[in-house]
Amino acid sequence: MLKTLENEAVLMQEAQRLYGLLHAVSKTKADKWTLEDCLVAAPYTLCINRFKQERNAVILAHSYTTPDLVYGVADFRGDSYELALKARESTADVIIFAGVWFMAETAKIINPSKKVFIPAGKAGCTLADSMTAAQVRTLRAKHPGIPALCYINSSAEVKAECDACVTSGNVFDIAQRMPGDELIFVPDMLMAENLEAELKRRGTPKKVISSGGSCCVHDKYRPAQVEQLRAQYPGIRVLAHPECPIEVCRLCDYVGSTKGMVSYVAKSPDHTFGMLTEFGLVNRLEAEHPDKQFVWPFGVCSYMKKNTLINTLEVLVEPRPEQIVEVDATVAEQAKKAIDKMFELAK
Ligand code: 13P
Ligand code: SF4
Repeated sequence: MLKTLENEAVLMQEAQRLYGLLHAVSKTKADKWTLEDCLVAAPYTLCINRFKQERNAVILAHSYTTPDLVYGVADFRGDSYELALKARESTADVIIFAGVWFMAETAKIINPSKKVFIPAGKAGCTLADSMTAAQVRTLRAKHPGIPALCYINSSAEVKAECDACVTSGNVFDIAQRMPGDELIFVPDMLMAENLEAELKRRGTPKKVISSGGSCCVHDKYRPAQVEQLRAQYPGIRVLAHPECPIEVCRLCDYVGSTKGMVSYVAKSPDHTFGMLTEFGLVNRLEAEHPDKQFVWPFGVCSYMKKNTLINTLEVLVEPRPEQIVEVDATVAEQAKKAIDKMFELAK
């Protein structure tokens, strides 16, 4: 249907633009993006980019979303922290957040006068969905006087109960700056173990009290995957997200946020990288470093993949109620304090 609106030459030009960006990118583990795939995407990217200008909208895409979004229509791509900064400083009328619900919710909290839409609708996250505000209150009551940090992968209600929010990119630095030798960290129990170990390694040990859950993508990695990668690819650098189990992180060359992994690869003289993280980041690295090799055992976030070109176009034309991000004013006011504290401490 969309295709009939476009001149064939314009479509081919757009498909070639996309192919120029995506030719080195894996579509599945077995194949790469083809010109035909780009021809299918082209009518949508053309329409989205036009509507985006008409509506004065900005598209923020997490690196775990699909490469047609990340390279075809996004104005900014990045990790949770980078995208929160972009949302905070945006002067657009509309923010379209291709990510998961807690990310879009954070954007609305820190820039409340904007219309915020999420193409994927109420896309969850096993971490954000693992803990309620009441559970944080109970935990804090059991440990009075202990500062509480929440990972940004949490609901606005959970953020509202904590002293400061953190992302995977600043968790170690912010935790180090917290007073005392004990700390509550929710809701990622695996990251809490990594945090406690890192604080000890830095010579600023703290007991980290945690509760909540784990990421359904990163909690699946095991030491065997690292050993296998090293056996199969001598000289490989293995990178992991701090949502992975500590016994995996201990064996890796680098542990950090998705932005940290992008920077590590950009600076590294090495050629082959084992990626213990979500497929979208592997795609991003393939697009940006076609000369390097990325080996990815497995790991797809079905929540992030709910964002598509079709539902991105939909929010620009007529968003469905579940794609419109609203946050209760009292919760937003409290949660904003924890998020603002992160911006202050992350400087
Ligand atoms: P980053 O902030 O490192 O991109 O992490 C977000 C996330 O959801 C990882 O699973
Ligand atoms: Fe949540 Fe894991 Fe998906 Fe990240 S990859 S959004 S932590 S479920």
